[in-house]
Amino acid sequence: MYDKILDISRRRGIVYPSFEIYGGLSGFIDYGPVGSRIKNNVEELIRRFYVVDEGFLEVQCPTLSPEEVWIASGHVHGFKDYMTECVKCGEPYRADHLVEEALKKKTDGLSLKDLQDLMSKENVTCPKCKGKLGSVYDYNLMFQTYVGPGAGKQTAYLRPETAQTTYLAFRRLWEFARKKLPFGVLQIGHSFRNEISPRQGMIRLREFNQAEIQCFVDPEKKSAPRLDEVAGMKVRLQTKEGTSETTIRKLVDENKIKIPLIAYFLGKSVNLFKAMGINPERLQLRQHEETERAFYSSDTWDVEYTSPALGRIELVGVADRTDYDLKAHMNLSKQDMTVNIDGRKFMPHVVEVAYGIDRPIYCILESCYAEEGDRTIFKFTKDVAPYMAGVFPLVKKDGLAEKAMEVFTSLKEGGLYVFYDESGSIGKKYARADEIGVPCCVTVDYDTLKDESVTLRERDSKNQYRVKIADLKKELLK
Ligand code: GAP
Repeated sequence: MYDKILDISRRRGIVYPSFEIYGGLSGFIDYGPVGSRIKNNVEELIRRFYVVDEGFLEVQCPTLSPEEVWIASGHVHGFKDYMTECVKCGEPYRADHLVEEALKKKTDGLSLKDLQDLMSKENVTCPKCKGKLGSVYDYNLMFQTYVGPGAGKQTAYLRPETAQTTYLAFRRLWEFARKKLPFGVLQIGHSFRNEISPRQGMIRLREFNQAEIQCFVDPEKKSAPRLDEVAGMKVRLQTKEGTSETTIRKLVDENKIKIPLIAYFLGKSVNLFKAMGINPERLQLRQHEETERAFYSSDTWDVEYTSPALGRIELVGVADRTDYDLKAHMNLSKQDMTVNIDGRKFMPHVVEVAYGIDRPIYCILESCYAEEGDRTIFKFTKDVAPYMAGVFPLVKKDGLAEKAMEVFTSLKEGGLYVFYDESGSIGKKYARADEIGVPCCVTVDYDTLKDESVTLRERDSKNQYRVKIADLKKELLK
């Protein structure tokens, strides 16, 4: 299935490797014409869940920031992976991934020393040449560069997460939020990590897309007033012992999730992934081990997806970042990051919801992929589908192409995302539309010229029925 999804993605302009004409570069992808539409729709869905539904603010900040930002945040010192190299052929490896592949077991939470010991004990060697592996060492994942010319040039880094750039303008955002807590800020944009072993296409990239929400809260109030909306949701819990069925409510009541706001965002994330069309049966919640947690977090939970092709994939991390980041920036910048509410001066805490965009898009492709007879279909939800409909003439001659173009133009001018296709047989046109997951096809035929009606074909049921052109927009929206 994985190969088929990749094949359609490349052929149909969904995603493909970047820089192909120069041989490509691992860890970078292009979204093609269809993929860009899907990506925009996924981002729009996230906005609907957080900016519209929660009333959170949205910001956009630069991807490059001066060194101080990343010294203060702890990334210059602490944002690293474990690396090893083959002593014989020099091939570099991410040590934890190498061990996972060699021993077929998870390494979540193992320290550098644990990994080193395990590799020695199990005699893990270079998969390429079977050579001995060198010591495991820390490798910083940030891309470094310089801003400006000459001696005055400033060291800078491409951001490895959007979060820090949101924190920097905290004082302005606090003013904008009318000096009330809680308030949330969403940022959607690119992040960069010089991953040691980018792999599995869209899953581990060096330039990727994130949608991160920083929810600024009173440290004494990490409650979730809307918890009831997700409390009854059935979820799967992944622990070291295996998976079990539970509910968000039980996880809170049994004190497994200690912070209700984290529980709420996990439930909301599951709902968001369902709305994207990701198979909910493949989703599970998992708490990070203490040794696995990022240096800034006191508690982190992920929503993961179990891919039949690629195994477990982290889609979102929900973390209690406490006052770690604001405090860090206050210390280095000497700018006040505290707030004063009713005479109480304190540093807000941050509960973060950190979505990747690329990984969910892969999971959407995998969840929506279907083969029915000789049809290959992406059953995208209407919110994610790249176009609402394709408009086709049955044949190009006898004025049908002109009429179909007229129908296409009127839908387009009515604000709908539709496309026009006149090449090949009608069967080929339907097949191409199915392969990019378009929910409806509109065909202009000889009857159209007589009665101003068209055939509307639904992707999933394959039902076909006649609709008057005058009612077409309404029917498609319905
Ligand atoms: N601000 C917190 C943060 O960045 P993270 O768990 O490192 O947390 C959040 O990243 C999300 O970003 C992940 O759940 C994943 O979906 C996505 N992500 C992280 N690294 C990625 C990579 N190399 N390629 C693609 N997506 C990635």
